[in-house]
Formats: sequence, C-alpha cells, structure tokens
Amino acid sequence: MEINTLALARALHVIGVVLWIGGVAMVTTILLPAVRRLKTAEDQIVLFERLEHGFAWQARFTTLLTGLSGFYMVTVLHAWPRYGMPQYWWLHAMTAIWAIFTIMLFVLEPLVLHKWFQQKAAQNPEKTFRIIQRMHWILLTLSLVTLFGAVSGAHGWLLPL
Ligand code: HEM
Repeated sequence: MEINTLALARALHVIGVVLWIGGVAMVTTILLPAVRRLKTAEDQIVLFERLEHGFAWQARFTTLLTGLSGFYMVTVLHAWPRYGMPQYWWLHAMTAIWAIFTIMLFVLEPLVLHKWFQQKAAQNPEKTFRIIQRMHWILLTLSLVTLFGAVSGAHGWLLPL
C-alpha cells in the first residue's frame, strides 16, 4: 500500500487543530471561569499557573504539528499563489492564527507574559483575570471563524471574489 502523504498531512493537521483549538475552548469556557470563582487571589493564581503550564506545553507541540503539516500541504498542493488570492482569506487567517499563537507560546509567554501575569495578578487579580479571559475569547472567536472558512473553503465553497 502506497502512503498518501497529502491525506496523512491533512489528518495530522486536523488532529493538531482539534487538540489545540479544543484546548483553547476548554480553557476559555470552563477553566478560566472556574479559576475566577475561587475565593482567594492566591488560590486563583496557583491554579491558573498550574493549568496554563500544562496546556502551554501541549499547545507548543500541537502548533508545531499544525504548522509543519500546513506548510507541507501548501507545498504539495502548489498552493503558494493562494496567498495572493482574496477568496483564500482562510489560508491567510490560518497562517495568522498560527503566527499569533507561535509568537505567544514560544516568545512572549516565556520572556514577557509570565512576568507580566505575576506582577499584575499580585496588584489586581480581578482585573488581570478579566483581561486574560477577554484575550482568550477573542482568540477563540477568531479561531472558530478561521475553522469555518478552512473546512468550507477546502471542500470547495469559495467566496466569488
Ligand atoms: C501555518 C499555518 C497553517 C497553514 C500553512 C495551513 C495550511 C492548510 C492547507 C494548505 C490546507 C488544505 C487546503 C485545501 O485542501 O485546499 C489546510 C486545511 C485546513 N486547515 Fe490549515 N493551515 C495552517 C493553520 C491552521 C490553523 C491555525 C487552523 C485552525 C484554526 C487550521 C485549520 C484547518 C482546517 C480545519 C483545514 C481543513 C481540513 C479539511 O477539511 O480538509 N489550519 N490548512
């Protein structure tokens, strides 16, 4: 049996996306609200850091898998010219979401965000968690719009632009 590398890359791409964006959905809709309901700021900070630490490592792996399989598909499909075509806005959106998360997880989180969180959470935990919750909602919404565009677009429903 010959290996269909395009189908393999597509399957790995979707597994990466499911684990990664599914994780973002879980953090946004269940975990963050639960953390914010804890009584003391100390408990909130400890639990948030523990959860975020575990998820950040998973998300680093899944963003790598999604990015590698994505660029592989662009190459095999000879799809680089799509970056110049507006009806493939979802390819731009996928790449942008991936770039935002990659910069956040590999650069900003270890270098800047972790310190920012500890400082701000010590000063004003309520406001800090509100900002974090809002950022998660924005990223989740953008990811879901992108998913809609990617699945419908990859299966032939392109805007007549
Ligand atoms: C570097 C980043 C990425 C690149 C280069 C990339 C590239 C691609 C390519 C080339 C396809 C196949 C399109 C086709 O068959 O015509 C695809 C499919 C898809 N991508 Fe991405 N992608 C990236 C990131 C993402 C992200 C962040 C998401 C989720 C938010 C995502 C979700 C999907 C989905 C759901 C499909 C459709 C799978 C299917 O039903 O066949 N991708 N991607």
